[in-house]
Amino acid sequence: MIYMDNAATSWPKPEETKKEIENVMEKYGANPGRGAYPFARNASEYLKKARKDIADFLGIDHAEHLIFTSGNTESANIVLKSILKPGDHLVYTSSEHNAVRRPVFYLCKRGVEATMVETCGEEERFLERIRKAFRKNTKLLVINAGSNVTGHLNPLREAAGIARKRSAYVYADMAQTAGIIDLSPRETGVDFMGYAGHKGLNGYGGIGALYVSDPSLLQPLILGGTGKLSYLKDQAAYLPEGFESGTKNLVGIGGMLGGICFIKNRGREKIYRHEAELTSYFLEELKRMDRIKVYRFREGAELPVVSINVEGMFADRVADILAKKGDIAVRSGLHCAPDMHRQFGTEKTGTVRFSFGFHNTFDQVDHALKILHTL
Ligand SMILES: Cc1ncc(COP(=O)(O)O)c(C=O)c1O
Repeated sequence: MIYMDNAATSWPKPEETKKEIENVMEKYGANPGRGAYPFARNASEYLKKARKDIADFLGIDHAEHLIFTSGNTESANIVLKSILKPGDHLVYTSSEHNAVRRPVFYLCKRGVEATMVETCGEEERFLERIRKAFRKNTKLLVINAGSNVTGHLNPLREAAGIARKRSAYVYADMAQTAGIIDLSPRETGVDFMGYAGHKGLNGYGGIGALYVSDPSLLQPLILGGTGKLSYLKDQAAYLPEGFESGTKNLVGIGGMLGGICFIKNRGREKIYRHEAELTSYFLEELKRMDRIKVYRFREGAELPVVSINVEGMFADRVADILAKKGDIAVRSGLHCAPDMHRQFGTEKTGTVRFSFGFHNTFDQVDHALKILHTL
C-alpha cells in the first residue's frame, strides 16, 4: 500500500515510536503519581521527563504548562468550554475542524455568540476580517495553524497580536503543524495550543496535549482522581495533573516521545523539506492535467497537503480508483472541515486529499499522477 493520508494520521510510525512504546510497556507499568514504591516512582519520573522533553520540543518554557489529553479534540473542548460563558463572543475561521466547530455550535445553543471569518490567500485581508469581527464582548479567537484541507498556514502571530490588543485570548489548533513546522507559544504569543500526538508528532491515536498559559482561566473537563489533594471534594485545577484525571496513557505518551525522538534524529527541517518538495512536485505536475482542480489559496507548498477534484467525478469515486488501481490510500470527503468546503463549493462532492509523509517518495507521487492522468 502507498499511504498518502498523513493528515488523518501519520503512517508508518517510526522505529523510535515503537521502541519507546516497548520501553514503557517493559519498564514503566505502575500507575504514575499513585505510589511511593520504586516501581511507581520510576513511572512518575518517566512521566516527568517525557513531559519536559515534549514541552522542550514544542517550545514551551515550563513543562507543567503542558497537559496531556486524549488528542486535539479534548484540548479544544477544555479551552472553549472553560473560557466561553453565555453572553461572550468568539471569532473562529472557516478552516476550523469539527474538533472546534462542534464545541462552538454546542456553546452557541447555550448563549455564546460566534462569528466565522473566511480564510483567504491574502494575509492582510484575512487579518483585517479578523479585526472587524471583534466585538466588545469577544473573549476568544480560535484559529488553526494550518488547514487539513488546503494545507495553507494561517498567520498565528499576527492574529494573536490582534486578539491581545482587544484583551481576548487565542486558542490555536496545532493538529496539522506540530512536528512539521516550528510554531511555539513563545514565538506566537498564543495563550492555548492544542496538539494531536498521532500526526506530525508520529505517535498513535488517543494521545495529545494542551499548552496552557494561565490555568486560572480553565476548568477540568473530566473530574476524578489526580493523585494529589485527594481529601478535597472539589477538584483543584492545578497544573498539570488537575486537568489529567484518571490513570494516564503512558504508552501513548511514550509513543509521542519516541515520535519526537525520530524527528530530532532525522532533523525536522530535513523531513519538512522532503515533504514540501514532494508537494511542490505534485502541484506542478497537476497543472498539466486540464480536468484536475486543485483547491488552494496560494501557490507552492505550505503544509504537505493537497486537495483536488477530477472534473465530473465524485471525490469518493476518485479515491476508490486510486485504491483499486494503484493501492494508494487517500482521504476523500469533507475532512471534518465543512466550512472550508462550503467556501470552495465542494460541500456536496467533497475533495480528494493527498497528504505526504517522510516515507513517501517521488516514485510514489509519479504512480499517483499516472493514475490521475488516466482519469
Ligand atoms: C485540524 C485538525 N484539528 C483537530 C483534529 C482532531 O485531532 P485529534 O484526532 O487529536 O482529536 C484534526 C484531526 O483530524 C485536525 O486535522
